[in-house]
Amino acid sequence: MNSERSEVSRFGLDPEKMPRHVAIIMDGNGRWARKKLMNRVKGHERGVQTVRDITRACRQLGIPFLTLYAFSTENWQRPAREVSALMSLLVRFLRSETPELMAKGIRLNAIGQLDRLPDKVRHTLDEAIRQTAQNESLTLTLALSYGGRAELVRMVRLLAAGVSQGRIDPEQIDEAMVAGHLYTAGMPDPDILIRTSGEMRISNFLLWQIAYTELFVTPTLWPDFNQQELISILQDFQTRERRFGKVET
Ligand code: FPP
Repeated sequence: MNSERSEVSRFGLDPEKMPRHVAIIMDGNGRWARKKLMNRVKGHERGVQTVRDITRACRQLGIPFLTLYAFSTENWQRPAREVSALMSLLVRFLRSETPELMAKGIRLNAIGQLDRLPDKVRHTLDEAIRQTAQNESLTLTLALSYGGRAELVRMVRLLAAGVSQGRIDPEQIDEAMVAGHLYTAGMPDPDILIRTSGEMRISNFLLWQIAYTELFVTPTLWPDFNQQELISILQDFQTRERRFGKVET
């Protein structure tokens, strides 16, 4: 038995029913900080530790794709001080974690309107993506300046350009072609979407990709989310019957 399978069995999980892709809306950093009478940025700082812990846990469990909603297109409207603190945190995270990503064979990926990121963030991100490009154990995708509707608009523009240039026949456009023109082209759709801090919303995350995803909302605030709770969600996931719109045969 390889180490991932034994890790999975140790937690009472069925290796045959593990998700291939877990996506997470990391919410509640601000509330966590407020509860502790701290500045919101402290909540984001503590949230980075949870990012590390959950990334490690997914790799140990042999989950090949983890996608984290780190910054939405709407988040640009937060106070400039908070946006700038988040950008600095991101740069620090990328610089400090790249050696661990390399040591653990984790490939970094990013989706979203990356050209809107400040130059320093963009360069640090590009460098981390380049360095980790050959890694194969886990693909960690950060959704940055990401919005699901903007992603769909971009896809429509790409296809429309293909049609107007005569490269695409409109009759050829099918679900696979649409999926192939999203930021997530080549990735499996998420099997699980987790949202922390209790809000029952999708908040413009992976709108196309979550058509058949199993949803889990936990009241836990992101800085308090941990491996144990992830395991409980995986155990629950393994009891769910996924029919993808069909009936059981
Ligand atoms: C939501 O909490 C969280 C965010 C908008 C940012 C998430 C960012 C991190 C976890 C840290 C940076 C990430 C990486 C990958 C280095 P909120 O501020 O909306 O919380 P609230 O709803 O309680 O106010």
